[in-house]
Amino acid sequence: MSIEYNEQEQMFHLRAGASSYILQVVKNGYLVHRYFGPALSRSVLVQPLVMLERAFSPNPDPADESLSLDTLPQEYPTYGLSDFRTPALSVRAAHSGDTIDLRYTGHRILQGKPALSGLPATYVEADDEATTLEIDMRDSLSGVCVCLRYTAFSQYAVIARSVTVANEGTKPVQLEGVMSLSLDMRDASFDWMHLEGAWGRERHVVREPLTPGAHVVESRRGASSHQANPFVMLARPEATETSGEVYGLSLVYSGNFEMRASVDQYRTTRLLAGIHPEGFSWRLEPGQTFTTPEALLSFSDQGLGGLSRLLHRLIRTRLVRGEYRDRERPVLINNWEATYFRFERETLVELAGSAAELGVELFVLDDGWFGRRDNDRSSLGDWVVDERKLPQGLGDIAQAINRKGMQFGLWFEPEMISPDSELYRMHPDWCLHIPGRQRSEGRHQLVLDLTRADVREYVVETLCTVLASAPIGYVKWDMNRHMTEVGSALLPADRQGETAHRYMLGLYAIMDVITGRFPAILFESCSGGGGRFDLGMLYYMPQVWTSDNTDAVERLAIQFGTSLGYPSAAMGAHVSAVPNHQVGRNTPIQTRGLVAMMGNFGYELDVRKLPLAEREEIALQIRLYKEVRPLVLFGDLYRLRDPQAGNNAAWMYVKEDQTEAFVTFVRVLSRPNAPLETLRLQGLLPDRLYDVQLHGGYHRELFPSSIRQCTVSGDELMAAGLVVAPMHGDYQACAWRLRAQD
Ligand code: DGJ
Repeated sequence: MSIEYNEQEQMFHLRAGASSYILQVVKNGYLVHRYFGPALSRSVLVQPLVMLERAFSPNPDPADESLSLDTLPQEYPTYGLSDFRTPALSVRAAHSGDTIDLRYTGHRILQGKPALSGLPATYVEADDEATTLEIDMRDSLSGVCVCLRYTAFSQYAVIARSVTVANEGTKPVQLEGVMSLSLDMRDASFDWMHLEGAWGRERHVVREPLTPGAHVVESRRGASSHQANPFVMLARPEATETSGEVYGLSLVYSGNFEMRASVDQYRTTRLLAGIHPEGFSWRLEPGQTFTTPEALLSFSDQGLGGLSRLLHRLIRTRLVRGEYRDRERPVLINNWEATYFRFERETLVELAGSAAELGVELFVLDDGWFGRRDNDRSSLGDWVVDERKLPQGLGDIAQAINRKGMQFGLWFEPEMISPDSELYRMHPDWCLHIPGRQRSEGRHQLVLDLTRADVREYVVETLCTVLASAPIGYVKWDMNRHMTEVGSALLPADRQGETAHRYMLGLYAIMDVITGRFPAILFESCSGGGGRFDLGMLYYMPQVWTSDNTDAVERLAIQFGTSLGYPSAAMGAHVSAVPNHQVGRNTPIQTRGLVAMMGNFGYELDVRKLPLAEREEIALQIRLYKEVRPLVLFGDLYRLRDPQAGNNAAWMYVKEDQTEAFVTFVRVLSRPNAPLETLRLQGLLPDRLYDVQLHGGYHRELFPSSIRQCTVSGDELMAAGLVVAPMHGDYQACAWRLRAQD
């Protein structure tokens, strides 16, 4: 059993992988946090919780001046009592004066992990993979009860948390904030790390000391967003890529969120995560319940790299689902940057044929195939093929592509409606809007109101009709604007604050039905690139288009940042034309290829127009990728050089049994008389000999023949390192393959 309960101490010890998480019921039924960190051998903490009498920290029990909620490390703090810090739960209820006083009433320990109905969440395949603790707490005045859920995974240092609030009183209450978790840590000696960004510049790493006050990462955009990401870390200041203690916090949600670390006057840290309380309000009638999204707490004492690898495995195997979870994903070509909206059947077939000759396995027809969509001003919602461009329909083009030996994939933007569309002319109230207010447009489009059952039915039926009409093997599910005027025509006035979360529940329900009806289709989610790179979407769709920015140099920081919290198998990465369409930079085709091999590989350019030498290079790249694909998708990632920290980037993938590795080095700008770089590799077997081979012809002349191809022990490669020849010219890259000798 990985959860122990000591009745005498009323202490719970959750063992998750190499970590322990301890909580305790104390005086008056308060539930306190006692410990989260490296695994402890004994089942109970011997040292008691030390409470001190503190000035201006009021005491709920006049007989005990050392007890104050203001200083108590609580598991689920509430608003309105003697805790002045940010609460996890705020409830508006006239009969309890907006205060909530939760006390322990009981608990259950279950083998396995219950599903969260209607919400994405991690799962187990066998009950012995995890144990779940459910703790019940009750506010006697209002009748509000909460069930705090903790799942400890036996193989992973991860605790999955969620909360269900039940109104067991007699009057309705209004939930104003229900966080998925709160964690009161006893010190503040951390760096706060998160992933900030913008469209085309997603998930750049920010690391700053955690100082007194609030540190917040949030989205109020109706999507997890390009600007913020629902993954943060608290790293000990001395923690590096390879060593030190790091705590991770991921939210399994795709909508508005808040993650907050607050350091108080006594230098303790409260970490909170959940649906953003601003713009959220949920009416709970007597007898009703509300369940939060799941949050994942993770821990590693092996630095950022250790935490990332732990999360990669968990996400890949116990969050992502479906046929493609454990399957290699096809190398694709997407016509977007090759043609944008201007294409006809023959162009597509030629493009596909030309790509098939190079080894590409899937052709994706992007935006512009439906309605009368010649630009981004019309037709979203009208999911009917445009016969001006594809006179014989989708079945015909799909079959023509299949005949080239490739799968056929199709783009949709199912959550949107163009004001210039048949759908909008028929149903102007089907979008999110507030009567009497201007409807703000983004990319000339409005957001469908997925809180409505009729709208959800329309989306499911139209998409399913198209998907059943042709041999479609892949879908790109895009979403190109954020929410404004967030109101629904069908919700009553006192429930409008539910709209944004009900939208997410509606979206999850739609994706559940469609992906369930078409289990053989590979779905890739996208939101103007990586605007919804989160665990909520990954539960339904195993991969995400990482960014609309396909420049190889820009991609280094984007992909490295993303890799902190998400596996390579989740990232879409493509080679595009030069000068790059987003930044105008010229990078060598070799470098573009090696950088895009950090995820689900593909191309977005007109391969028909390339010189022969580049086509030959592409054929070589695809051959290489197909060989290393199992390592990239299912191996362990080691980040060797951080592109945000200097002029170089380097990373390697190691096969699970450590007998194979693939190492890539990118040098951004050329420098005269540059120092000789040595890469100390990681994750190899120290006493095995590895055959090391510099890949292809890249910079062959610069590497002495003795190191182009050599046999070296794992310990030498990890301790002494692998020498990189000084390469000439900007944006150069090289790669090695390593194979252990028998
Ligand atoms: C945004 C996506 O990120 C692009 O890849 C492309 O699909 C366009 N939308 C199409 O409108």
